[in-house]
Amino acid sequence: MSVIKIGIIGAGSISDMHFDSYATNSQVEIYAVCDLNQSRAEEKAIKYGTQHVMTDYHELLALEELDAVSICTWNNSHAEIAISALKADKHVLVEKPLCKTVEEAEAIQKAVNESNGKTLQVGFVRRFASNTQVLKTFIDAGDLGDIYYAKASCLRVLGNPGGWFADQERSGGGPLIDLGVHVIDLCWYLMGKPKVKSVTGNTYNKLGNRANIQNKSYYKAADFDSNKNDVEDLANTLIRFENGASLMVDVSFTLHAKEEKMEIHLFGERGGAQIEPALEIATEKHNTMLNLVPQMDSRTFDFVKGFQDEINHFVECVLGKQETISPVEDGVEIMKILTAIYDSSKTGAEIQF
Ligand SMILES: NC(=O)c1ccc[n+]([C@@H]2O[C@H](COP(=O)([O-])OP(=O)(O)OC[C@H]3O[C@@H](n4cnc5c(N)ncnc54)[C@H](O)[C@@H]3O)[C@@H](O)[C@H]2O)c1
Repeated sequence: MSVIKIGIIGAGSISDMHFDSYATNSQVEIYAVCDLNQSRAEEKAIKYGTQHVMTDYHELLALEELDAVSICTWNNSHAEIAISALKADKHVLVEKPLCKTVEEAEAIQKAVNESNGKTLQVGFVRRFASNTQVLKTFIDAGDLGDIYYAKASCLRVLGNPGGWFADQERSGGGPLIDLGVHVIDLCWYLMGKPKVKSVTGNTYNKLGNRANIQNKSYYKAADFDSNKNDVEDLANTLIRFENGASLMVDVSFTLHAKEEKMEIHLFGERGGAQIEPALEIATEKHNTMLNLVPQMDSRTFDFVKGFQDEINHFVECVLGKQETISPVEDGVEIMKILTAIYDSSKTGAEIQF
């Protein structure tokens, strides 16, 4: 059986999903791990029996026998590491967002084009969810017809993870680049990746990180620190596409709302779909409106299975058996949309493409 050697760069929270998923894939050897924080890297190396441990990613990329890397670092290093990895002849799976700016995204795309046929897969993990994939088979068969409207809300009432997530310099932004990236990509992917025409957006820094709140726990970054917070706490947007379709999204780290919300809806000429909180399809037959509820193990996003399927797919791409369904050019398009939302908010005007 062919075995590929993988290196994981960044050994913080989300890397657990990469380590566990690679460890479950019999075609993979987790060969090297790197983190700026040495003890964090060593802990992972012991747990997963990894041969090489380092704090400088250049040393990891210098391992000639290494086939591919997962990049699980802060957003500000994604571009630099991805480009170096491609130049070192490695396949790359880079966590979302692809990077922080359109210039960086285009530089990564150039490095992919100049590489020796290497795969760069963007970690749009929700594309790999079972509810997404099942819905896609319905969409591809024409069951929804033309999708002309989509709407997503991903609202945390208390969920600024602090640390680098709240540091504009390292993250590139708040809930929009962290959470909005997932739902905007998912809608855009299922709408058939229409060309964006214009973007209008608003971001708000009204509530801060609300580190004062007691009696309610929330997700915190590996190096949690609530002292710094210069990212938005709410963003909303209306995106128009050249085919006339539109997408409305709102996302928050914190908000005076009754409860958390995760809703994703698509509306087409022949049918509509709710993806979250659970897959359901609305349609019409024999002059009657129907709600179709698929019978499946999970109609909502299953985090563990989503990552396993994302990583299994990446491994197949590294082995040359498949082409990635989450390629660099999609990462570039999503970066264009995200940065246009921030620009529109700054200028108070719609951004035209
Ligand atoms: N797909 C998802 O659903 C999902 C969920 C959470 C995070 N993420 C993404 O994963 C990435 C990491 O997030 P996290 O929550 O694991 O953060 P984290 O802070 O828990 O871990 C990041 C790790 O990267 C290390 N690091 C940073 N820069 C480095 C460099 N240049 N070289 C080596 N190590 C470096 C840090 O020391 C830290 O241990 C981010 O891009 C984030 O957006 C994706």
